[in-house]
Amino acid sequence: MITKNEALELVKKHVRNKNLVNHMLAVSAIMKRIGEHFGEDADLWEAVGMLHDIDYEETGDDFTRHGLVSAEMVADHLPEEGLRAIRAHNEITGFKAESRMEVSLFAADALSGMIVAGALVRPTKLEGMKASSIRRRMKDKSFARNVSRENIMRCEEIGIPMNDFFTIGIEAMQSISDRIGL
Ligand SMILES: [Fe+2]
Repeated sequence: MITKNEALELVKKHVRNKNLVNHMLAVSAIMKRIGEHFGEDADLWEAVGMLHDIDYEETGDDFTRHGLVSAEMVADHLPEEGLRAIRAHNEITGFKAESRMEVSLFAADALSGMIVAGALVRPTKLEGMKASSIRRRMKDKSFARNVSRENIMRCEEIGIPMNDFFTIGIEAMQSISDRIGL
């Protein structure tokens, strides 16, 4: 299986937008923590997070193919379980997030957006951020309105309470804060 650094190098070959690369780093860090939380293969979960949007610039406006193309592009690097999660993170493809890994990626994708938005309005960014900060932002519908609260809340489907999920996400992103400029 592909290592985290190999996955990052592969992403950089296909994705020019730095924010998008940072998004994948963030989702990767969150997925690793969720994998650890469940006692699963955290390296695999981390790689799935890193690679999930690798097709973003290639699929462009054709959002129906987003995720499907990523899965094709990394087919040699991940087991089928990981490829399924990547397809299902965009349910417009017709694939639905059902397994623990699939739902984790789906919810982590949205959570990372909420945490980035929350960090950007704090003077100290991610430093010192707590779950309560995200909980407050979640309730404010006008804040980061493009981030789906519903998608984030799917963490409960896999038995992770909302607050714990926020803490996992925040701590994961804090661990790479320098790298993602937050
Ligand atoms: Fe994503």
